[in-house]
Amino acid sequence: MTTSVRINRWSQPMAWAVAGLFVAGFFVPAVGNWTGPILAAWFVGTQRPSRGFLWMLAFNFLPSMLMHARVIPFAEPKQVLAFLGWMLLGCVLGVLPFSLHRIVSPRLPQSLATLPLPLAAVVAGALMRALPIPGYAPEPATFLFVTCWMAAVLVWMWNHDFRWAKIGWLAGLAVVVLAVSAGFSFVRPLTGTAILGFALNGQVFAGVCLAVLAALSVFSLIRTGWAKPWSLRPQTVALLRSPVTGDNLLVATEDGCESLVCSSGESFPIRDGIPSFLRPEDLTGDNGKYNHLYETIGGFYDDTQRVACALRGLDRDSYFRNYMDLLEVKPGDSVLETSVGTGLNFKYLPAGVKLSGLDLSPEMLSACQANLRRWDMEADLYLGNAESLPFADSSFDVVFQVGGISFFNDKAKAIREMIRVARPGSFLLIEDETEDYAKSTYERMPIASAYYKNREQAITVPIDLVPAEMEDIRLEMLKDGKFFAITFRKPMGANSGAEFFHSAPVPASRLIG
Ligand SMILES: C[S@@+](CC[C@H](N)C(=O)[O-])C[C@H]1O[C@@H](n2cnc3c(N)ncnc32)[C@H](O)[C@@H]1O
Repeated sequence: MTTSVRINRWSQPMAWAVAGLFVAGFFVPAVGNWTGPILAAWFVGTQRPSRGFLWMLAFNFLPSMLMHARVIPFAEPKQVLAFLGWMLLGCVLGVLPFSLHRIVSPRLPQSLATLPLPLAAVVAGALMRALPIPGYAPEPATFLFVTCWMAAVLVWMWNHDFRWAKIGWLAGLAVVVLAVSAGFSFVRPLTGTAILGFALNGQVFAGVCLAVLAALSVFSLIRTGWAKPWSLRPQTVALLRSPVTGDNLLVATEDGCESLVCSSGESFPIRDGIPSFLRPEDLTGDNGKYNHLYETIGGFYDDTQRVACALRGLDRDSYFRNYMDLLEVKPGDSVLETSVGTGLNFKYLPAGVKLSGLDLSPEMLSACQANLRRWDMEADLYLGNAESLPFADSSFDVVFQVGGISFFNDKAKAIREMIRVARPGSFLLIEDETEDYAKSTYERMPIASAYYKNREQAITVPIDLVPAEMEDIRLEMLKDGKFFAITFRKPMGANSGAEFFHSAPVPASRLIG
């Protein structure tokens, strides 16, 4: 059976109109004043703080150099250095609000998360005004506050999938502020003065913003409940095993840091609430090659998918439901996704399910953690290799894997591992792209194409790696043959799955579908 993704005709023109607005922002300053902070807040938000800061600094500094090249005082080397120094400081002050927002806002509850950017922008603007920075004439403080707050609100709403129930009053308030500020922008050129800014555009406003920003930053640092300690998850820890020795694991705490240890002395660190089972050998071959890609794009993996779907008019929910509806999941089941990525599939599972996800990429897992917080969902996340899972035999009711296996080093081992950790009678799904998709899409995408072109092996559907003893084996081609989905059931009475290790592949006559 071949299924395809539904088309959503209404969202497509809107997506193109919004994209057009952002492009216009690069050429029309009146538009760019609004779209620039949105793009910057989004971009820095998708990156690790240090990487985002350095990229944005480069994006700011290089065009500034070009713009000011003619007025650089070339006569005196000292003057040139001073000029460049002040310009660099101006760029740093321009970028810092976004970086500070990136660090503080994810640790703030609800819509408070939208405040660090506008507050920091006002403070940075006041500093820029006070210092002899060449070429910088920051907008009035209120204008900075409004544009940056709008940017933070829009990025926050985008990250929350524009779920109106959740963002209700904030969205309403944003519309009012937008209307007021639009009026303000029109009035300013007419009157020659910033009406709102006149009242608030002083050191007092910047001081108030600085004080509130400091309070929010301290609150974000001391806020507890950030990640549930592993010592409070005894049932989950009971299922964990060393992927090296298979030994049981226990939680140890030293200097406030948790780790998982076993009797042989092996120890696995827990960083930001995620146990790490990664060893250097896990990052060799294809695993290492594609891991580099996911470490680079992890922060904007979801957004590129979302934008690509919108521009092509594809209904994103139907894209996921295409394969997630193949799963058999009941409330109360424990579900494991190997190569969980940013956790997008979790949204399509019924409520009341105990979720676990494992992935090879810290960047993807950190995006997954952020997503789960936004969706008010909980899951146990693990950094590790799907080819050697850190779980006891028969630990999960449902085990599935989407979008990773075609580029694993050892697909057969990954499938055996899925079977081993699945309970007897449980349901398994393996979904991934076909060679057709890799050629028509990945090999043409910016950044990704460098990884996918000139592969040594074409993608093959790994149906021959499913042991013949599995039941109800089914192969479906999805999305016009661009993806495949293999589903099967682990037989009752089977335990570790090791008994299937040398069995023959599934004969074609046993395939359903
Ligand atoms: C295309 S993404 C799919 C993510 C997610 N399953 C989804 O459907 O959105 C592929 C994921 O596989 C992960 N991955 C690749 N090789 C892996 C391995 N050997 N073990 C675990 N995860 C792996 C990557 O880090 C990446 O997050």
